[in-house]
Amino acid sequence: MNRPERITCVEDLRQLARRRVPRMFYDYVDAGAYTEATYQANQRDLASLNFVQRVGIDISNRSLTDTILGQQVTMPLALAPTGLTGMQHADGEILAARAAQAFGVPFTLSSMSICSIEDVAQATSAPFWFQLYVMKDRAFIERLVARAHAAGCTALVLTVDLQVQGQRHKDILNGLSTPPKPTLMNLLNLATKPRWCWGMARTSRRTFGNIVGHVDGIEDVSSLAGWVAEQFDQTLSWKDVRWLREMWNRKLIVKGVMTPDDAQSAIDHGADAVIVSNHGGRQLDGAPSSISALPTIAERVGQQAEVHIDGGIRSGQDLLRARALGAQAAYIGRPFLYGLGAMGQVGVRRCLEIIHRELDITMALCGVTNIKDVDPSILTTGADPF
Ligand code: FNR
Repeated sequence: MNRPERITCVEDLRQLARRRVPRMFYDYVDAGAYTEATYQANQRDLASLNFVQRVGIDISNRSLTDTILGQQVTMPLALAPTGLTGMQHADGEILAARAAQAFGVPFTLSSMSICSIEDVAQATSAPFWFQLYVMKDRAFIERLVARAHAAGCTALVLTVDLQVQGQRHKDILNGLSTPPKPTLMNLLNLATKPRWCWGMARTSRRTFGNIVGHVDGIEDVSSLAGWVAEQFDQTLSWKDVRWLREMWNRKLIVKGVMTPDDAQSAIDHGADAVIVSNHGGRQLDGAPSSISALPTIAERVGQQAEVHIDGGIRSGQDLLRARALGAQAAYIGRPFLYGLGAMGQVGVRRCLEIIHRELDITMALCGVTNIKDVDPSILTTGADPF
């Protein structure tokens, strides 16, 4: 089971990560807000889309390569920004970035990463993307954007759907905080994960590197929690997108739009691409699935800017479904985190290999040989099934 070739699907990686990662950090990944209705809808609605099986077509020559915002990729997939990735596995952001780069897909570093922008830049050889939350301390944001620029990041992903935070019940019950609460349950759980503890003790010397040491008075994790909690700027509006557009001369992606009007506003204020996203069901519980929001958004703005999507992508089939409904690219969050927690860099690579192969085979069985030719006709339900 534990050899990479015995891992056959993303679910295998999830099961292994569940065994290997301390409960508090595993649950942080594998949870959604409140009732988790939106978290579940993301996957369920993707799975409900059926393919049209086609035969009698020469499918011997196939291509999955494409571009995302002009960047060459081996398939139209990117790793989504995820906070605390370095808690799934020691040096997690570095390992995930290396796996993504070796595979030929973009890696996006979260503002809330454990390894800093500079750590990741030093440890990797190709450019990555940086995700930004807008904080009240605008001087800090300006410094952060300048650091991402200096590190060679080629795209800035501005997340606009987390100015207040949806509640994940499990995080409260597990005492997930900064620093984590040393409850008896947590200590007992750590004692059963020696491999994880050993990895952290041996290699991890990093801690919220984008923030700690870069804000006056924030010199360690214990002083970080309060600062972060009150820093998310609830005044965030489209004019801030314009402000960032003027500050950042590379690609700007706005993440977290769920309606055609919001997608249009993001583009009007300077976005090169939008990500149709409900934050993986971690914010507005009760929001529709991201795949169901995609068709009308793609229809409205797809000719003006790239439309990307995330939420619930668990396979190459899902990636193909998203592509068929108008997404130039899709992102995965939890799947690569399962891979990382399960097997470090090898696990992230395995996750990408699995999705790539599933995409290739599924596209072929639909009678399509080039990812660029995928359109709604490969789905039985047609262009707008929702
Ligand atoms: C996230 N997400 C996220 N998004 C973001 O813009 N900044 C962040 O720091 C985080 N942190 C984060 C942590 C964890 C553990 C998860 C699972 C997700 C949301 C993420 O970028 C993406 O929108 C979702 O993960 C996509 O859904 P799937 O692929 O996880 O179903």
